[in-house]
Amino acid sequence: MESVPLHDADPAAEPLLFRKCLGQFATGVTVVTAKVGEELVGLTVNSFSSVSLTPPLILWSIAETSNSYAKFCVADRFTINVLADDQIWLSKHFGRSGPNKFASLSWTMGRNGTPVLNGVAAFFECSRESELRGGDHLILVGRVQRAVQFDRNTLLFAQGRYRIASDHPGENIAMAAT
Ligand SMILES: Cc1cc2nc3c(=O)[nH]c(=O)nc-3n(C[C@H](O)[C@H](O)[C@H](O)COP(=O)(O)O)c2cc1C
Repeated sequence: MESVPLHDADPAAEPLLFRKCLGQFATGVTVVTAKVGEELVGLTVNSFSSVSLTPPLILWSIAETSNSYAKFCVADRFTINVLADDQIWLSKHFGRSGPNKFASLSWTMGRNGTPVLNGVAAFFECSRESELRGGDHLILVGRVQRAVQFDRNTLLFAQGRYRIASDHPGENIAMAAT
């Protein structure tokens, strides 16, 4: 089926339209945490992606403009906290710069010495494997040392909005003849 595009933009000239177009790709929402020296750092991230099962590798990227950028440049371990569908408030909390983001939050120290947030859908404790410059972001590749899943539904982010996952009615319907 042919359709008329909403936008057909040069991404370099129209970054906001580029961003809208990227929003058509749904993601989960994570909070990446680390401990650098005595300081706990964390930010909301939806650039998280799996890379490889064997070896177990993931990636995410951080903007150079983030307050915690310098800390993550030197952190050799971090945890990817996958938010559950009742944790929009945590996404908003870690999506803002500010001091003491962990004060009055419920969290425990993971085995790799980085914070694990309570109530998440899953978490991945990682060691830093490699990094790559990507424009105004740094792409960090992590080797997963520990993967923990909980019986909770995942928070989604698509088209610039938080979403809840539900089964698609077409999931179990045989493919229609074309
Ligand atoms: C849903 C969502 C996804 C985000 N994804 C990323 C991301 O992948 N990388 C990034 O650098 N910032 C991302 N951000 C923005 C950061 O969370 C935000 O800039 C935050 O203030 C950074 O914290 P800091 O300044 O304390 O480091 C995202 C924000 C939201 C709400």
